[in-house]
Amino acid sequence: MEQIGTPGQQYAYGIDVGGTGIKGGVVDLSTGELVGERYRLPTPKPATPEAVADVVAEVLDELMRRPGMPPAAPIGIAVPAIVHHGVARSAANIDESFIGTDLLHLFSSKTGRDVVVLNDADAAGLAEAAFGAGRAVEGSVLMLTLGTGIGSALLFNGQLVPNFELGHLEFKGQAAEVGASASARKREDLSWDAYAQRLGEYLEHVQFLFSPELIILGGGVSKNPEKFVPQLHLNTELAVATHANNAGIIGAALHGSNAAR
Ligand code: BGC
Repeated sequence: MEQIGTPGQQYAYGIDVGGTGIKGGVVDLSTGELVGERYRLPTPKPATPEAVADVVAEVLDELMRRPGMPPAAPIGIAVPAIVHHGVARSAANIDESFIGTDLLHLFSSKTGRDVVVLNDADAAGLAEAAFGAGRAVEGSVLMLTLGTGIGSALLFNGQLVPNFELGHLEFKGQAAEVGASASARKREDLSWDAYAQRLGEYLEHVQFLFSPELIILGGGVSKNPEKFVPQLHLNTELAVATHANNAGIIGAALHGSNAAR
C-alpha cells in the first residue's frame, strides 16, 4: 500500500498515558485530525515506569504496523507528571516510582525510537492552541483539564510555557484539584450547580492571578459543558475544548513534530 504523506513531515504519532488507559493515534498535522482509529490499552497496575513503557511500546507498535503508516514520523508521549528535561518530577495516577525516572531514556530504549515526552495537560493545551479553541488567540491562554485531578497549560501567543501546575495551587486550604476536579464532584456527590459554584470560585482566583485572554476547559467533564459552563460567570472569555478525547494524543504528536524540526 502507498505510504501516507512524506515520512516525518505531515504525520506524527501521539501517545497519551492516563490513569486507566494508554491511548495512541497517528495525527495529520495539517489538520490536527487522527488518521484511522485511535488505539487504547489499559494502563498496567501497578503503573510502574517499566510496565507503562512496555504498553506504550505495544501501542506504538500497533500504530506503526498499520498499512501505509509512515515509519519515520516523529513520536510524542504525554504523561500525567511534571516533565523537566525529560525526567518525571511528579506522578499523578501513576506509580510514585515515576518520580525521578528519565522518561526520555526509558521510552526511547523500550520503543527503539527517538521520542519526546511532555506533561499531559501541556499536550492538551498545545492541541487546543494549534487546532482548537485557542487557535490564533494572541496573549496568554490558559487550558485547564478537569478530570481526576486538574491539569493546566499556559500558552503565550501559541507557545507553551511548560509545567504550569495550577491544579496544585493552594485554594481554600488545599490543592485546588482536591476540591474542584471532576472527580471531586463525583466523590462529594455535588449537584452540577454546586460544582459550578466551586469551580467558578477557583477560576476567579486563577483569573485574578494571571489575567489570561482566554480560559479553555477540557478533560472528561468538558463532554457535558451544558451542565456547568452556563453557570460560570467570569470576566475572562471561557471556551470548551474542541478535542476533549484526543487532545493529549494530538498535542503529543505536535510536540514530537516540533522537536524533530
Ligand atoms: C498533575 C498534572 C497533570 C494533571 C492531569 C495533576 O494532578 O499534577 O501534572 O497534568 O493531574 O493528569
